[in-house]
Amino acid sequence: MKRIGLLTSGGDCQGLNTALRGVAKALYEACDELELHGFQDGYRGLMLDDARLMQPADFSGILTVGGTILGTSRQPFKQVRDPLDPDKPDGPDKLAGMLATIAKRKLDALVILGGNGTHKTAHLLSEAGVPVVTLPKTIDNDLCGTDITFGFQSAVNIATAVVDGIHTTATSHGRVFIIELMGNKAGHLTLHAGMAGGADVILIPEIPYRMAAVTAALEKRQQQHKRFSIIVIAEGALSDKEAALSRKEQKASRMNWRYPSVAYQLAHDLEKSMGQEIRVTVPGHFQRGGQPCPYDRVLATMLGTAAADLIVRNRFGCMVGLRDGQTVPVPLAEVAGKRRQVALDSSLIRSGRALGIAFGDEED
Ligand code: F6P
Repeated sequence: MKRIGLLTSGGDCQGLNTALRGVAKALYEACDELELHGFQDGYRGLMLDDARLMQPADFSGILTVGGTILGTSRQPFKQVRDPLDPDKPDGPDKLAGMLATIAKRKLDALVILGGNGTHKTAHLLSEAGVPVVTLPKTIDNDLCGTDITFGFQSAVNIATAVVDGIHTTATSHGRVFIIELMGNKAGHLTLHAGMAGGADVILIPEIPYRMAAVTAALEKRQQQHKRFSIIVIAEGALSDKEAALSRKEQKASRMNWRYPSVAYQLAHDLEKSMGQEIRVTVPGHFQRGGQPCPYDRVLATMLGTAAADLIVRNRFGCMVGLRDGQTVPVPLAEVAGKRRQVALDSSLIRSGRALGIAFGDEED
């Protein structure tokens, strides 16, 4: 009898159900006797022993369904790691809670689907002796150890559709539009959607932007008699002034903003400097919603079945990544606590610059 725990943690994305289906179907195929324990709302379910015994039927009909059948939640790593949380000195020892659940349910392994924060806790569990296999999910595509995460391509499709839609109205009105896309610390989604949608200015967290450079790019387009301009900006993009601050100071300064997010701040600044009408669009969580695209269905299925294969072969302590089209086990130590940001000399950035797209750092 194999007893395997499953959980999805952190922000959801397209392809989570697809991946769960891949893991479960492959395990049912490979194991004569199998119990799958589905934890509710990620690590919260593991801490509090909130789980249900899954049935094969639970994994049918979910290939194309967005969200996660297990539910998810964010459990900040700081509080998970430190049982003596300074804010709640009498709070429960969360790691002990998770280990107790695993022992009580006699789990042989845990399959954890998540992004950056999730991987820190997965690594912690692995170091504490829990047999863990993880899968890389996030629309941000910022996990180390894999060429791509599932959810990313679906989000790029949605974000690109937003840019395409704004393009048609922008041509009619001759306005400047700002589209704010998700991505707090990594700009992969904004970069890809901006390139795919033909944005004129792309602002990402990896390249602090200067107002003078953004204004110059817009003025250049006006001089070329272009009727409109489209700026895509990642929610975590920073001006050069903000980038000079510490992370703590950046947070504090954003708390004092009069604006709901960076796009509105930029719109205000540009309206002031250029005296021009600016419109803002923020698709927000819509980017994480709905069906996984065919690419993500294939990717999540491949990664899920590869996770099942590792479990059958008793190989733990790793994430299944995709490298050069092949699924590979990547030690959790190479993933946890790291972030894969956009490389400034990447072909995509160079391609954008070759087209004349402004990244906010150079004035022509
Ligand atoms: O990590 C995925 C992500 O969608 C980020 O792009 C975004 O910054 C964050 O989650 C939003 O988090 P929440 O769903 O908690 O608002």
